[in-house]
Amino acid sequence: MADTLTVTDNRTGKSYEIPIANDTISAMDLRQIKVNDTDFGMMSYDPAYKNTASCISRITYIDGGKGILRYRGYPIEQLAETSSFLEVAFLLLRGELPSQSEMAGFQYEVKHHTLVHENIRELMEGFRYDAHPMGILMSTIAALSTFYPEAKNVDDAENRWLQIVRLIGKLPTLAAYAYRHRRGLPYVYPDNELSYSGNFLNMMFKMTERSYEPNPAVEKALDVLLILHADHEQNCSATAMRGVGSSRVDPYSALAAACAALYGPLHGGANEAVVRMLQEIGSKDAIPGFIKQVKEDRSVRLMGFGHRVYKNYDPRAKVIKKMAYEVFDAVGKNPLIDIAVELERIALEDEYFVNKKLYPNVDFYSGLIYQAMGLPMDMYPVLFALGRCAGWLAQWQEMLTDDEQRIARPRQVYLGSGSRDYVPLSDR
Ligand code: SDX
Repeated sequence: MADTLTVTDNRTGKSYEIPIANDTISAMDLRQIKVNDTDFGMMSYDPAYKNTASCISRITYIDGGKGILRYRGYPIEQLAETSSFLEVAFLLLRGELPSQSEMAGFQYEVKHHTLVHENIRELMEGFRYDAHPMGILMSTIAALSTFYPEAKNVDDAENRWLQIVRLIGKLPTLAAYAYRHRRGLPYVYPDNELSYSGNFLNMMFKMTERSYEPNPAVEKALDVLLILHADHEQNCSATAMRGVGSSRVDPYSALAAACAALYGPLHGGANEAVVRMLQEIGSKDAIPGFIKQVKEDRSVRLMGFGHRVYKNYDPRAKVIKKMAYEVFDAVGKNPLIDIAVELERIALEDEYFVNKKLYPNVDFYSGLIYQAMGLPMDMYPVLFALGRCAGWLAQWQEMLTDDEQRIARPRQVYLGSGSRDYVPLSDR
């Protein structure tokens, strides 16, 4: 049997043999299907790209039916258990786990790019005290593009790597500054004696002590959360990173766009929305009433549930749920966890959610950990961005080095008005 699709256009009776590769057909092969020779030719129509592969990638593999997630072939459960965020960032970016010398070199590079220009600190002063930190983060990431004009040389591999290391090094600093700004606290400069996650906690929470000592359980939990959030193939924000980056703009501007996409409540903003939802529910007794509301009113969603790809339990949610209790042992239990666990139990027994294959996703439990760490809710999507930065940059790099890729520019189906003549205002 040939690896082809035979398509018959019943408008003309013509048949076409379309090659199949990787269980897909090339949309461009549809263009030969025409009624008249002068026609543009057939396209595929796929709003929100529900069934469209936009690229070939070798970074992250998800099996939504089986709840499988692997970075460069390594199961997420193993990486969460034994790796570190910086090691996972290297893996995503370079395709292989680093050797000891490569790891030491990467750590050195990242640690020597944690400072930001003082103008960035001054720029932050311009935000209101209650500005959402995601708004501050994506603005200051975009502003960084003005400090590194050479970053526009996106086709130079060495220059790309320097910008990648700068972004991975500086994002925690920007995030922590955004937090300190809204708290009205002085900014804390990076401490390169600490781990990547330990230094972030230092810049977030150091007060008057001479040097900050992160709680080891919190430091480890944060590092695992960054691993779990590091990449997720062609999600909304990775698509923004690839799409904006395909115009050959610098990576700071593209990453600011990815941040903007992540900010949305249906994407990375869901972890904040989950905690607000649990607070609104308030008690286990109120859960049945809330579930009833979700089922009757489509505008009310069970935040932290459902996924475009996972039609099974999100493997990341399993790791986070287990880790939550370890964090609570260290910093005190978040009482909302009892409501979340009961809500999950009730939902997973309810045919509405079972039939729609709605399971907890990465955002369902993560916010409870951030809250227990003492982070304000609007910082939760910022933590998501810190982890996903590595994935966005890996996707961006892969797009730039893929000979099949061009500037992203989809087509449309036009169903608007036909040609008509302008009517002067006086005649309207
Ligand atoms: C992330 O893409 C990624 O990989 C994202 C991410 C990553 O790591 O990058 O995994 C991170 O964004 C996780 C998702 C976080 N968002 C939320 O938790 C918000 C709540 N969930 C949803 O709104 C929804 O499930 C999405 C956005 C995640 C997925 O939406 P889809 O695939 O477009 O599905 P849909 O909106 O078309 O829903 C299908 C049906 C609908 O019912 P019908 O129209 O068929 O009757 O399921 C219902 C929806 O109403 N539904 C929900 C629901 N999610 C979907 N009903 C109640 N509660 C929900 N959470």
